[in-house]
Amino acid sequence: MVRVTATSDDIEKAADVLRAGGLVALPTETVYGLAANAEDPVAVSRIFQAKGRPPSHPLIVHIAAAEHLDDWVEAVPPAARLLAEHFWPGPLTLVLRRGPRVPLEATGGLEMVAVRVPDHPVARELLRAFGGGVTAPSANRFGSVSPTTASDVRAELGDAVDCVLDGGPCEVGVESTIVDATADTPTILRPGGVTREDLEAVLGYPLTVPSTSGVRVPGQHPSHYAPRARVVLVAPEEVVAESAAAQERGHRVGVFLPPSFAGAPVRAHAVVALPASMAAYARGLYGYLRELDQQGCDLIVASLPPQEGLGLAIANRLRRAAGPRSTV
Ligand code: TXA
Ligand code: MG
Repeated sequence: MVRVTATSDDIEKAADVLRAGGLVALPTETVYGLAANAEDPVAVSRIFQAKGRPPSHPLIVHIAAAEHLDDWVEAVPPAARLLAEHFWPGPLTLVLRRGPRVPLEATGGLEMVAVRVPDHPVARELLRAFGGGVTAPSANRFGSVSPTTASDVRAELGDAVDCVLDGGPCEVGVESTIVDATADTPTILRPGGVTREDLEAVLGYPLTVPSTSGVRVPGQHPSHYAPRARVVLVAPEEVVAESAAAQERGHRVGVFLPPSFAGAPVRAHAVVALPASMAAYARGLYGYLRELDQQGCDLIVASLPPQEGLGLAIANRLRRAAGPRSTV
């Protein structure tokens, strides 16, 4: 169950903040978002200032229900319609041709717009109370770890946000899967909360996933989702030895200990014993990175999980956290 502490009154007030051109941090099932009225270019530009994000990076428009999709985009190919009907509300974002309601400020100047229907009671009630759509990137400073609790948002953005709605910890924990649905055959731009296998089961054919390097979509460059500590990726069976060696060299090491090594003696400043379930790992991932930062670690030793199911999104975020310094 989602632990929601935002009241209906809080949500009404947040809708007023949106109408006045302000910024609202809202819980979604994936991560917390920093929302502004999608149709107000000045409000949208405040998001970029608050995050320290370059204005060329496109934002996701969040809407209350799948039946509103046609109000925001020009054309919906059959595969996009199928995915929207099947996965919304939920952690899937569809990139489609921009309709006239979407200002270019929200798309970073692109003729395509990313749209999703979040699956969180507070986000949905806010969207219903507000009556329009909101653009909402993850509510973190540009390049850093996405927030999965209301207190993470306050730590990241402080006074830069007019109102924070607390919807408890996010259930999914990694961002939505982004699918380019403009062509007849969709392609995955960013792996996320809806797995590739689930998409393929609904579409009935295999999908391509971009390799981590060389992707040109803004927000997909390396060294994103990064904690302060440097992240080093090694093979699972090297995690324990690498941690000991780095600690020996004088680092304050935080370790992501794979479940197959649970209970092994580890030489490190802080140890995160990873859960065996990929859903639990995804839910905890950003919290673990924040926790190791808070414990003063300067180096995080981790390995990539098997790249199937949610493991694909987790591996993508770990690679980006490691940035160009990755050893894998
Ligand atoms: O789960 C999520 O998707 C969260 C929650 C808050 O909904 N939002 C999120 O937003 O992750 P953000 O801004 O951190 O990442 C959105 C990414 C952009 O970095 C960009 O890569 C992609 O979506 N994107 C947005 N519009 C696009 C477009 N028109 N074409 C291609 N990619 C686009
Ligand atoms: Mg983000």
